[in-house]
Amino acid sequence: MAIKRRQLLILGGLAIGGGLGGAAFSGILSRQPEANSPPDPQAPITNNPKPAKSTVAVKRSSNPAPKGLYAPTRGDMRIVVISDLNSAYGSTDYIDQVKQAIAFLPDWEPDLVLCGGDMVAGQSNDLNDGEIAAMWQGFEKYIGAPIRKAKLPFGFTIGNHDGSGSVYNGKFSFERDRNAAKKYWNDPKHNPNLNFVDRAEFPFYYTFQQDDIFCLVWDASTATIPTEQLQWVEKSLASEVAQKAKLRMAIGHLPLYAVARGRETGGNYLNEADRLRSLLEKYNVHTYISGHHHAYYPAHKGKLELLHTGVLGDGPRRLLSGDLAPNRTVTVIDIKLETSETIYTTYDMDTLKVVDQSTLPRYIDAPNGRITRRDIKI
Ligand SMILES: [Fe+2]
Repeated sequence: MAIKRRQLLILGGLAIGGGLGGAAFSGILSRQPEANSPPDPQAPITNNPKPAKSTVAVKRSSNPAPKGLYAPTRGDMRIVVISDLNSAYGSTDYIDQVKQAIAFLPDWEPDLVLCGGDMVAGQSNDLNDGEIAAMWQGFEKYIGAPIRKAKLPFGFTIGNHDGSGSVYNGKFSFERDRNAAKKYWNDPKHNPNLNFVDRAEFPFYYTFQQDDIFCLVWDASTATIPTEQLQWVEKSLASEVAQKAKLRMAIGHLPLYAVARGRETGGNYLNEADRLRSLLEKYNVHTYISGHHHAYYPAHKGKLELLHTGVLGDGPRRLLSGDLAPNRTVTVIDIKLETSETIYTTYDMDTLKVVDQSTLPRYIDAPNGRITRRDIKI
């Protein structure tokens, strides 16, 4: 993994909500685009092995951005990443920062919007079926419908508050949450506008291809991904469609390595992280995107990049290292396909300034291993 360059970005324009933008570093990393594993001739089960190009007409400008915000140069493909949108248990509304970010989305002109989960605020046995349904109606009103109206493909992973995969005595502990999530997402009116490759287990785990990027979504709503699902992961990543894509990404709610205070305990990050990382590395997955920790930290470990997304809704957290104040963030990823460079521009959604990557800790010692800030070569 080689650092191509580090740019000092000078922000221009007034930030909404008052104040001027500041200077920021935008990390850029390059990885070899070639697949390092032969495709598995046996697999995978697909319902659309040759996904069509996106039919969404997206107007192109060289550096689209919401008015007044720093405007990065767009890559060959642009992804906007949001995560952890919810508020208190049962909430049917979202805080202003969430609404602002959703309103901004079309202005970044992304090819894809990704969400790291916790879109609603379930995982409480005190909520009845009507209250669970009302949360998804709130999601539809404030998040789902505006994104569809903007014709933006929306990839997401299920969080522990959306439909926890926790199992007790062979039964899902939050089966009503799981059923509500499934009902919402399988309603044709809520079509996320993705080019699915395998949607047999959608919305819990599935794959899609957006332009030249293959995305695998796994169910990391709990710390253990079942063996049979991991077999599906391997088959999917080994498939011709995955390996022929210019770049592969994986997304799940829990991270492989803990980054936030209060989230460093077991159950808040994936079990057997090194083994899972090796699986992703084996099939040349470029980046694993996660939520749940409510603290932005772009990192790498081994051959894998790790985007720990910040929170957008309630409950920003401090990183395990350093003394930075907690914040809420949205990350724009610009991808240069030929070189597999990914350029992050992360906005603090309270100040609307760009987060200066160099202010983040150079590394974090998670309970299960050290991860390093993504611009630091080791
Ligand atoms: Fe979560």
